[in-house]
Amino acid sequence: MAEPKLINLTIEGRPVTVPEGTSILEAAKTAGILIPHYCYHPGLPVAGVCRMCLVEVEKMPKLAPSCATAVGEGQIVHVHSPKALDARKGVLEFLLINHPLDCPICDQAGECELQDYTFQEGRKDSRYLEPKRFNPVEDFGGDVLYVTNRCILCTRCVRFMDNVVQEPVLNVSERGDRAVIGKHAEADLTNPWAGNVIELCPVGALLSKDFLNKARAWELDRAASVCPNCTQGCNSILETREGTVVRQRPRSNDDVNKFFLCDEGRLGYRWLERRDRVELPYARAGGTLVPVEWEHALRAAAALLAGKRAVVLASPMLSNEALYLLKRVIDRTSGVGRFTVRVGDEVPLPGVPDLALRPERAANVTGAEILGFERSDDPLAGLGAGDVLVVADEELAHEPPSVPAGVSVIVVGTTHPTWAASADVVLPITNMAEEEGTFTNLRGRVQRYTQAKPGPGLARPAWYVLGDLLAAMGEGSGYFTARDAFAALAAGHPSFADMSYESLGLKGRPVADAERFAPAELAGVA
Ligand code: SF4
Ligand code: SF4
Ligand code: FES
Repeated sequence: MAEPKLINLTIEGRPVTVPEGTSILEAAKTAGILIPHYCYHPGLPVAGVCRMCLVEVEKMPKLAPSCATAVGEGQIVHVHSPKALDARKGVLEFLLINHPLDCPICDQAGECELQDYTFQEGRKDSRYLEPKRFNPVEDFGGDVLYVTNRCILCTRCVRFMDNVVQEPVLNVSERGDRAVIGKHAEADLTNPWAGNVIELCPVGALLSKDFLNKARAWELDRAASVCPNCTQGCNSILETREGTVVRQRPRSNDDVNKFFLCDEGRLGYRWLERRDRVELPYARAGGTLVPVEWEHALRAAAALLAGKRAVVLASPMLSNEALYLLKRVIDRTSGVGRFTVRVGDEVPLPGVPDLALRPERAANVTGAEILGFERSDDPLAGLGAGDVLVVADEELAHEPPSVPAGVSVIVVGTTHPTWAASADVVLPITNMAEEEGTFTNLRGRVQRYTQAKPGPGLARPAWYVLGDLLAAMGEGSGYFTARDAFAALAAGHPSFADMSYESLGLKGRPVADAERFAPAELAGVA
């Protein structure tokens, strides 16, 4: 393909070079200049309706909407000139005419672009003395509430449903100062991808029912994460308030999820706050499980495994680091590692190629397969007297199996399943919100997630526990950081060769042999 022609221009005195066809707004971003905007969003078609992005371009007769104006050779653009600032101040004044003084009770306060730009370049007072327009709050279906009075009619939500979900549900009803976002008759936002309108809305007009009144934006701590709820591996931000996960939002990644999360993923964070967690290491003494020191529990587990075959039931929600170390335990004992995975319907997002809620509802199915675990509907097959069953954070909640007599059981888990009550040793581990690690998505992309909150009690990350277990079995000396555990994986498995946390960054990289995971329509295409 021919290289695109490059255009040189100057924005706020800074030289910028971008491909032909780039908008001035996007070109400015490359120079670190954010031109205020409302209706523009890089994941949606350009509408040019809000006029918040007006800038002054020398030799142009009028101010230009920078989202809808392509760069030109030699252009000189002024973003903060008095003329441009004055125009945007006027736009803000119009937008605020009917906007209620809601910030103290608005969920969006603290992360609202109307607040931000008004603070940055709006008027300090209002000249509008008349009563403001009032419309009631509307339930738009799904997870979405529409607070009509706060809407600035940017139409991002309408364009998302029309062009990306390709299921027209929303419209601009009425005209002039009566205009509001309306729903088509008999339609609502129960679509599995509709929750994205909540983030797309630049103000507090579209709110999540799930998050309503849960926290103020400035109370939240945020951690870069990966949605663990299917094999797509959408990049996300986990937000916590005082150590409790209260929201999951999309984090953009052009190679995986663009700017979006499905509703099942977005709202699927409550299991991270389960209350039935194992918090202490246990070992059996005199027929009962009693809390013990970590060292004692690890020694007991290593003693159980000595000279025995380990049959490992692993969760495909475990990190690559944990699965790699678990595989080393399996290899030391000439054992076998299996996993099962919950499946559901595939739900694509029509406007974004290769983005779907995937049928396999677990984050690391591909990682488990690459690392040598077998998918099985009968994961305890062949388990018999003299074997050691290692239950690695798998509950088999829908079909609890029975453990044959004569089998020792080690639980390495966030919880202790009742069918494994006969466990001899229980090693408590953290869940993905409480640790750092990586998952491999269905296209073979290895992506990091970071720690969002502390783990409960004495629970430790699975890679830490398994590194120590291997050490207790006489192999290595354990790992103190997830980075070190990942380095061991990179050194020990060819698919992960040459990878490190630094080289993965926060957007990930494909495994060395990722072409075998390409979507069917691209398989074999060079
Ligand atoms: S509801 Fe939000 S996204 Fe939709 S038009 Fe109004 S301000 Fe824009
Ligand atoms: S598509 Fe999968 S990974 Fe993405 S948000 Fe939905 S459940 Fe999470
Ligand atoms: S962002 Fe350019 S007109 Fe709305």
